[in-house]
Amino acid sequence: MYITRASVKPPLSKYAAINASKAITCLVQTYTPSTAGLSLNLARVECRDPFSRRQFSSTSKAQLREYFPKPEGDKQIFKTDPAWPHPLVKHEHLTKNIYFAHRRPRDFSDRVALFMVRMLRLVTDIATGYRHDVDGPEVTDRTGKTTKPYAMSERKWLIRFVFLESVAGVPGMVAGMLRHLHSLRRMKRDNGWIETLLEEAYNERMHLLTFLKMAEPGWFMKLMILGAQGVFFNSMFLSYLISPRTCHRFVGYLEEEAVLTYTLAIQDIDAGKLPQWTDPKFVIPDLAVNYWRIPEGQRTMKNLLLYIRADEAKHREVNHTLGNLNQNKDPNPFVSSYKDPSVPHPGKGIEHIKPQGWERDEVI
Ligand SMILES: [Fe+2]
Ligand SMILES: [Fe+2]
Repeated sequence: MYITRASVKPPLSKYAAINASKAITCLVQTYTPSTAGLSLNLARVECRDPFSRRQFSSTSKAQLREYFPKPEGDKQIFKTDPAWPHPLVKHEHLTKNIYFAHRRPRDFSDRVALFMVRMLRLVTDIATGYRHDVDGPEVTDRTGKTTKPYAMSERKWLIRFVFLESVAGVPGMVAGMLRHLHSLRRMKRDNGWIETLLEEAYNERMHLLTFLKMAEPGWFMKLMILGAQGVFFNSMFLSYLISPRTCHRFVGYLEEEAVLTYTLAIQDIDAGKLPQWTDPKFVIPDLAVNYWRIPEGQRTMKNLLLYIRADEAKHREVNHTLGNLNQNKDPNPFVSSYKDPSVPHPGKGIEHIKPQGWERDEVI
């Protein structure tokens, strides 16, 4: 169903009349929710406008609001830069160096971590109505009757991204917080782990904020996110106290899944299955352009997903590596300087990224 409705965002600004007249020229498609009470609205083709980001939406007036409105009373501030600037990456590295890979479990701790990720994956797939078998029809009964091939739409992908990213920002913060408290409590240095872990949580939150600029979750999804955070934060907190190494391995496997999810979404874009995201009028959020410093002419949804996938691959590398280290003694190899700079070492970029992490004897 297609609905076109000009949104009125109280209080009415002096630009309201300008916005309204501009709004009617904008092509906008909105969707009504259809599955499992999930109501996620896409504001997919935005009109660039300096005063307002959302001219249309199918969201009710009561629900409709700018997710991240410009702060009021900031007359002296021109802009606020990210506290952790994203490292600059070359476009060729986004495609050549980043791909799905799996680290085979080597001991009991690894197998526990992988099992937990598979369980979480199952729950997430049910919660977000997602299946990997996107091409083939499914046989539903003994008579051989088949359903239509399952296909992910832009809306379904965004539901999945929002849910995944709301969970993904938790482990780094828990691990960073616990190591911070450990350092204070035991009066010991941390050797550089805390900042990397907090930066990971920050980066995941930037992913979430980016998708929230494109999609507004309905009450069901908000409830799911609330429940997931309550359960996941507390489980992570207790697990990290018991076995931080298993937790890093768990995050490494979780990030493998994240890389797979974004790889499949990018494949869908390449196959022309997501026309809204390949529409030349589709605009990615300014927030994303500024954070990843995406050059002019490359600001497409596909490139945005390539940047995000590279971040997930970096988290995969970092956490698999941290899972290989002595949790109490070893320094963080990603912020260390090495005696022999002529050979590749872990760093912040993705030029020498290792999908399965660095072994301890390679870096310590
Ligand atoms: Fe993420
Ligand atoms: Fe991640």
